Parts: sequence; structure tokens; C-alpha cells
Amino acid sequence: MNSKIKKIIKKKNKSKIICLTAYSKNFAEEVDKYADITLVGDSLGSVLYNYNTTRKVTLKNMIEHSKSVRMGTKKSLMVVDMPYRTYRNKKEALKNSIKVMRETKCDAVKLEGGVKIREIIKYLVKNKIPVMGHLGLLPQSVRGKFRSKGKSKNEKRKILRESKLLENIGVFAIVLECVETSAAKLVTRSIKIPTIGIGSSLHCDGQVLVTDDLLGLNETNIRFVKKFVNIKKIINKGIKKFKREVISKKYPSKKYSY
Ligand code: KIV
Repeated sequence: MNSKIKKIIKKKNKSKIICLTAYSKNFAEEVDKYADITLVGDSLGSVLYNYNTTRKVTLKNMIEHSKSVRMGTKKSLMVVDMPYRTYRNKKEALKNSIKVMRETKCDAVKLEGGVKIREIIKYLVKNKIPVMGHLGLLPQSVRGKFRSKGKSKNEKRKILRESKLLENIGVFAIVLECVETSAAKLVTRSIKIPTIGIGSSLHCDGQVLVTDDLLGLNETNIRFVKKFVNIKKIINKGIKKFKREVISKKYPSKKYSY
């Protein structure tokens, strides 16, 4: 097992796991300083390309962005999302995961789903592809409104059952997206691998957010997103200053000219 993965698993019940998204080298360099896991999420579809669904993200999109992220990722574990319709069966999943791993030099891939893709995940793990799971709200499967999961007894049982299933077939961690607090707590206590929450309460072993969201770069009203800083203000300040200095002919002065 990859030593970075071992380290992440060991953090369970000791210290929180930090996971953040990056879609390019410059962001990855900053994320890598603080995160245990850098995730090239297919959320890049909505954040960068304005898609209304992650289903439009292609393998090519993921590979190109991941290559850039690889350049800025040194110490954290780099995980790449397998986009929609790239893992419909075992053979397709393995072929595409190998392509992603080879071309991007990432450490692991993430797939959305539980029982429906159990044989696919099993096959990847058997073929030495490290896999991160993703349960709860599955953006690639949503048609229409996003809603939280695990509120009803049935849903809670299903998430628990699927978490145990994923653990048994060898995923090294599970993202729990929009899972109700008591369900997230129950799952986290019931499995030995870490849970990484997004909108799933502080009971998870770690937390993940889309970096553009927490920086205030991507306007969103999703309930679980906290804007930790408003980076747009700083960007505006810099751009305005540049414009002012160009117009007033202060820039480029001799110092910046040949
Ligand atoms: O696509 C993504 O960025 C994700 C995380 C938000 C968990 O899957």
C-alpha cells in the first residue's frame, strides 16, 4: 500500500484529515502545503466550465487538469475523480483508471457509488488501483434537485451497509457527501477506514471542500459552504491597481522595461 495512504488511514481517531480540491498547478501548490489529500474533483465542470452537471466532464478534461495539478503536488496524496460514463463496467473502469494513473501520475482515483459499482471497485482494487469511495449525495447520479441523504431509517441503513461494503472490498477512504449528522456519525464509528465529509457534519474523520468555494472565488449558496476568505476583493484590488498604473503611465517604469 502507498505510504501516503497508510498515513491517512492511521489518522483515523487521531487527527482530522484535510482534503481540498485543485484543478491547476498554482492552486495545487498552495493546497499541498496544508492538505493530506489533493482532489482533482469533477466539480471542475461547474466551477471552471459553468456546466450545470458533472456529467459533462470528460476524461480528457480530468487528465489535462490533473497533469497541471501533479506539477504542484509534492507531499499530499493526489486523487483524481473518474468522470461520468468512464466506469460503466469492469474493463472500461480498469482501462480508464490505468490511463488516468499513467498519464497524470496521480496516487488514486475516486468513484461515486456503492452496491451498484461493487464489482467494478473490486476489480480495480484487485488490479492494484487505489480507490477512494464516495457515498451519500452522488452528483453524477443526480437529476434535478440536490438533497441530503440519510434522514430516513432506510437511507441511513443503506449508507451504513454500503460504507461497510466499500471498506470490505478495499477502498482506503470514503467521501460522505450531504449525509445527515447521525448517519455520518454512525458510519464513521462503524468502519475502520476514514470518512471524509462534505456537508456531513463534524463527526467525519476529515473534511473536504472545493477550494474555489472556501476562497469565495466561486459564487454558491450551497448550505455547507463557508466562505473563509473573500479572495475576489484581493484580485479586484490588484487588477484595478494595474489598470490605474497603465492608464497613468506609471507602469511599466524603467525598472520593468528593457
Ligand atoms: O468533485 C468534487 O470536487 C468532489 C468533492 C467535492 C468531494 O467530489
